[in-house]
Parts: sequence; structure tokens; C-alpha cells
Amino acid sequence: MMGRAEEARTLGKPLSGYTERSVYVKAERATRQSKTPEAGSSATPLADMMGIITPSALHYERHHAGVPTIDPEQHRLTVHGMVERPLVLTMAEIQRMPSVSRIAFLECGGNSGGEWGALTGPTAQRACGLASCSEWTGVPLRLVLEECGLKPGAAWLIAEGADACRMQRSVPVEAALGEALLAYGQNGEPLRPSQGFPLRLLTPGWEGNLQVKWLRRLLVTDQPYMTRDETSKYSDLMPDGKARIFTLMMEAKSVVTFPSGGQRLPGRGLYELTGLAWSGQGLIERVEVTLDGGRSWQAAVLQEPRLPKAFTRFRLAWQWDGKPAVIASRAVDETGYVQPGKEELIAARGLNSGYHFNGIKLWKVAADGSVANADA
Ligand code: CO
Repeated sequence: MMGRAEEARTLGKPLSGYTERSVYVKAERATRQSKTPEAGSSATPLADMMGIITPSALHYERHHAGVPTIDPEQHRLTVHGMVERPLVLTMAEIQRMPSVSRIAFLECGGNSGGEWGALTGPTAQRACGLASCSEWTGVPLRLVLEECGLKPGAAWLIAEGADACRMQRSVPVEAALGEALLAYGQNGEPLRPSQGFPLRLLTPGWEGNLQVKWLRRLLVTDQPYMTRDETSKYSDLMPDGKARIFTLMMEAKSVVTFPSGGQRLPGRGLYELTGLAWSGQGLIERVEVTLDGGRSWQAAVLQEPRLPKAFTRFRLAWQWDGKPAVIASRAVDETGYVQPGKEELIAARGLNSGYHFNGIKLWKVAADGSVANADA
């Protein structure tokens, strides 16, 4: 039998200009197709992720009219409406401006939508995978708005994408003057086309749909436009028949990614339980883990440095005794907000919402080590 050292004497592959992952690594996004494949979504395989950064190729996607191919030389951002000096900016002009990089999560307002009902996610990916975390690079939007000069009464920006549906969302101007970025970089490289190449809006902590991709226009107004994606979609129908609208902030949430649905523990013994937590309100202050279906909770160790509005990795050493267990995590953010249980959430919002599900996700570990959705 040939030893490992001898095998390694076979010449390997030559250099290449762009590296692919190992053929043995198989993690992929799970796609959810609608009748029109251009309007589906794909979910990050959260259980296969390490640390807090999602590789750009595995960042979740949600498109409304497919992914346009845009030549950055031809792309323009128009800023007009209630401004002193309307501007049309090229990508080169945007990239000459002072830039910043920051790590931030992005989560679709519809993430975990299935968790409201009976069809709850059998894996971390299916249950919570419309959430990802990247390092984003771009120009503070505030700088561009200062350049344009907002007129008195300017209160909203209508952000418009260059995709076929010209997706639009109304963005409160205070967000634009705060942390919002005109982002052109993600994880050290230009945005991927599916993430808005060459330019997207980024408003950290707020629902994904607001982070308009392929950004081509910002119209400054004194009122929101009540676009399709903030009225018939991305609004939350309450039990009394009224709808919450402009629910922009994504509240604290967490999920155990190991062990999680679809995995199997090979036997009793010591494991590192781990998962991800995040909050649109800022820092994750604490993550608690239950191993007995919610009867008792203990604090997990949080990976430092913790960053506001970013994924926070948590870990807990777990000696599994081989008996059935029901496990879950519960996040608490810096405002003291506690991630609610599913029943609590349904009691407050009913079953018609579809959006903003951030309830606690339970996994059951069977005596044979198999892990499954505890709601199923
Ligand atoms: Co919302």
C-alpha cells in the first residue's frame, strides 16, 4: 500500500488566476423557484458556515426580475428631487469619494416566513437561510446627499434598481444620513452581479428588500411612494386586518447551526454546539442555549470582537449523554430585547404576517443521533 508521503509526490495542479474551492466541498445555496425563475430566492447553507462571514458565492439571494448584466462604465447613479444640486454620478466618480468598510448582516424581511405556519424549515438553511453576513465597502450615502444639498422638508429617498422591474423602496432620510452606504465592494472584491454589481444601497440592520441592488436612482421626496414592495409586499398583515408598514428593522434572532436539522451525531460524547445570532438594533449582548426544550437556559460563549448589526458566532461545549434532547438558542441584544418564542410571536402578530419571523427555533436530537425540526 502506498503511503501518504509517496502519494504527495505526484505533481499537483499548476497555478491559476482564480481559485475554486476543493472538489470535496459541496455546500450550496438552496433555491426556491417561483413560476418565473427570475423571481425566486436562494438560501445560505448556514450549517456549513464557519465564523461570521458568508462567502459571496453563498450569500442568499432574492430577486424580483432576474440578475441584470451591467457594464460599470455605462452605469450611472442619478440623485434628484428635493435637492439643491441634482447629480449624475459615474462609478469612477463614486469610487473617488472617501470610502469605508464595515461588516453587516443582511436578512430578507421574508426570512423564516414558513416558520409562521405548519411548513417549518427542516434544516437551518431552509428555516433561516435568507440571512448572510459580509464585509461591505462603499461611500457613506451622507456624503453624496451633502454634495447635493437636501432641501427643507426632504424626508424620504425613493431608491430604484436597474433590474427589469425597476424595483423601488422608500427609505427614510434619517437612515440615509446615518449608516447607509453606496456599496460597491463585498468581502474584498467588487459586488457579485447577484448582489447588485456595480452598486447597491446598504442600510445596516434593516430588511433586505430595502438594500436596493443595481442602484440607479435616488429621488428625494417629502413622503414615501407606497411602492409595490412596501404595500402589497413587505408589509405585515395583523390579526385585526390592519397592516404594519415600513417595518424596516430586523429584530434580534439566532439559530443553532450545529447540531441542526438534517445532521447526525455519530455517538454520545463531547461536542461543540454552535450557531449564529444577529440584531438590527446593534450588538448581540447574550445568547442563551437550552438543551431541555426550554426548561433551563445557559449562556453560550460569544466570539469576540462582537460587531453591531453583524452575525455573532456563539459556542457551547456540550457533553451529550445519548438521550433525546430538544435544543435551541435565544438571543438578547444591547437594548435588552429578547428573541421571542414562536407562540409569543404568534400571540402578538397572528398568522397572516409572513414577514419578520424571529422566533426561537427548536431542534430535536434523537437517541440515534439524528437531528430534526422539533416542530415537525
Ligand atoms: Co418589514
